[in-house]
Amino acid sequence: MSEILGIRGYDYVEFYVGSAKMAAYWYAKALGLKISGYAGPETGVRDRNSFYLTKNKLKFVITSAVQPGCYDVLGFVNQHGDGVKRWAIEVDDVEKAFSYATQHGAVMIKRPQRLEDKHGYVMEAAIRLYDDTELVYVNHDHFNHIFRPGFCEPRQDINIKCEETGILGIDHIVGNVRENEMNLWATYFNKTMNFDTFIDFKAGDIGTRYSALLSKVVRSSDSKIKSPINEPHAAEKKSQIEEYIEQYYGSGVQHIAIETKDIVKTIAALRKNGVEFLTIPDTYYDLMRQRDNLQIDEKIEDLQQHKILCDKESTGYLLQLFTKPIGDRPTFFFEFIQRKGAEGFGKGNFQALFESIELDQKLRGNLDKSPEELLPPC
Ligand code: FE2
Repeated sequence: MSEILGIRGYDYVEFYVGSAKMAAYWYAKALGLKISGYAGPETGVRDRNSFYLTKNKLKFVITSAVQPGCYDVLGFVNQHGDGVKRWAIEVDDVEKAFSYATQHGAVMIKRPQRLEDKHGYVMEAAIRLYDDTELVYVNHDHFNHIFRPGFCEPRQDINIKCEETGILGIDHIVGNVRENEMNLWATYFNKTMNFDTFIDFKAGDIGTRYSALLSKVVRSSDSKIKSPINEPHAAEKKSQIEEYIEQYYGSGVQHIAIETKDIVKTIAALRKNGVEFLTIPDTYYDLMRQRDNLQIDEKIEDLQQHKILCDKESTGYLLQLFTKPIGDRPTFFFEFIQRKGAEGFGKGNFQALFESIELDQKLRGNLDKSPEELLPPC
C-alpha cells in the first residue's frame, strides 16, 4: 500500500556528466526540454554547475564539476561516464518515507534534510540503489521558487529552436545489475518501499540465441513507480547487460522510459531534432501486417516510416522505440512509449530489439566473449 510511504510519483532525475552546459543544450535541442534553472558559482555553489530542465511532468538536473575537488561528480563520471546519479520520488512526508525505508533495511545515504532559503524549504533524504546510484525522497510543498534553494533563472536567455516533441513524464526507470544481483535488488525495493514484483521474466523469456537476460519488474501498489531490474543470463555471446556492466564499470540505471500521447508525432519530432534510434528492419512490419488480431488506431505505414515498435497484450497495446546510447559509452539510453491499455514493457518486441542491439554491439566489438570467458568453468 503506497499510502504507507505517501508516494505521489516520479520527481526529478539528476545526471552527472562531463559538461553540464553542453549536455543541457542537447536535452533542450534534442528532447525539447526547457532550461528552467541554473545553480553554480554565480549562485553560491562553488564546485559544480547544474542546469534544471523541465517539460510537462519531466524534471531533469544535469550536473558537472567545475573544480578538481568536486569528488562525487568527478569520481562518478570517471568511473561510469555520463549517467544517472539519482532519481527522486515525490512523497507526502520525507521523514516518514525515509524512516519506513531504513527500518526495512534501506542503506542510508542522506538523512532527511531541510534545504532552506527566502523562498521556503525543500525536504530531501536519500537511500542507496545499486552500486553508485541513489533513490531520493523529496517534498517541495513549502518552496515557491525554481527547483530548490541555490537555483535561479537561467543566466542567459537561450533561444534553442527545436521540433515540439510532446513528451510528458516518466513511465518507468530501468536498472542493470550483475548476475545474481536481480533478486537482491527486487527484494530491496519490495521491502524498503513496500513495492511488489509484478513481472518476472525467466530464462528463455527474453533473449536471442546469442544473448539473454533475466528481468523482474517491481512497482508501487498504485503503479505510479515501475522499475524493471535486469541481469545478464548465460548465452553464446555477450548480452547487452554484460556490455553495460563492463562499460559502466558497475550496476546502474540503463534507461528511462518517457511517455507520450502521440508517439508517431513524438518520434518524428525527435528524429528531426537529431535523436538517433535503434534500427528496426522492414521485416518487422511485414510480420506486423500478417498478424490477424492486430487492431490498432495507427497506420502500419506510419509506424514503419518512423520504425516504431508495437506490442499487443490482452488488455490493449503499447507503442515504443529506443534511442541509441546517448553518451560516449554504450550505457544509458531513452525509451519513448505510448500505452493504449497495455501495462507491460513490450515483451513481443524483445526479439527484434535484441537483434538490433546485437548489431550495434558487434560494431563496437562487444558481442563476442573474450577467450577467458569462453573457458569452461572449473
Ligand atoms: Fe523500458
